[in-house]
Amino acid sequence: MHLAALHTPSQIQLNKDGNLKHFITIEGLSKETLTKILDTAHSFINDQNQLVTNNLLEGRTVMNLFFENSTRTRTTFEAAAKRLSANVLNIDIARSSTSKGETLRDTLWNLEAMAADVFVVRHSSSGAAHFIAETVCPHVAIINAGDGRHAHPTQAMLDMLTIRRETKKKFEDISIAIIGDIKHSRVARSDIAALQTLGCQDIRVVAPNTLLPHGFEHYGEGVRLFNKMDEAIQDCDVIITLRIQNERIDSPALSSQAEFYKMYGLNQERLALAKPDCIVMHPGPMNRGVEIDSSIADGDQSVILHQVTNGIAVRMAVLALSMQGQLQEKGLLEAIAV
Ligand code: NCD
Repeated sequence: MHLAALHTPSQIQLNKDGNLKHFITIEGLSKETLTKILDTAHSFINDQNQLVTNNLLEGRTVMNLFFENSTRTRTTFEAAAKRLSANVLNIDIARSSTSKGETLRDTLWNLEAMAADVFVVRHSSSGAAHFIAETVCPHVAIINAGDGRHAHPTQAMLDMLTIRRETKKKFEDISIAIIGDIKHSRVARSDIAALQTLGCQDIRVVAPNTLLPHGFEHYGEGVRLFNKMDEAIQDCDVIITLRIQNERIDSPALSSQAEFYKMYGLNQERLALAKPDCIVMHPGPMNRGVEIDSSIADGDQSVILHQVTNGIAVRMAVLALSMQGQLQEKGLLEAIAV
């Protein structure tokens, strides 16, 4: 695939009025934009903590294009679109005509011709969502549901919503540790960008050297690297544990999963070093007994399943806001008012 593009993602994801048009990466978005996504997501959760249903996207068509496996992300996008009354089509890419030699471009143009308003795209190539938004289907709202090891912006926003709702603290006042395979994780990259934009000053990253990206020292404001897990966890408000992304690792980076658990697995003893009300998060899929002990995954401090529910609210917000941007471009804004 030719991934060279004329503009950066941050240049194409907002329209001329500064509203979200595509959602490709956290980088380049302002604190105001991220806060608007969080506030809109919050407005889709009622006082009884339940997700609402409305008809904001009635008559609109959302297509899920997952070129890579997914459980939570694909299903929560579908649930979100249905809660907004959109038509949802899950395209079975593995059985589509791309397997008969049709180019990705042609497949996408055909899907666009079926009156798609939004493409939710997951792809193993970093830059795929940007490429589609910039050069293939600029008139369809493109939402990145994870591209290679580059970005996973809706996961980052659901993580931010979870932190905001569960800790009830300002991002400026939070200490957070992100532990595990940082190198291959699009979640870590997008989480760090979102935390920095929202003003978090204490982002601690913990990983063996083999699982750290090159040039990590350039990650910027508020980010500190720790080799020893016990030091990193000290007095934390939030811990995010990450799975080892074996599908993105060419040669085995670790001697064994048991070794990883010994050095970097989150167990009760280590969690006790954090603040007593520290929350534990994981984007899933989780490997119990590798990056996290089962007793913690299922324990009182775990908010892992709340993340999943918050994922629906965030995806509703991103779908509604990006459609608002698209409709505004087409002069159809009165159709929707968030
Ligand atoms: C993550 C992903 O796909 O990047 N999972 C998710 O979206 N819930 C993290 C992972 O696969 O480990």
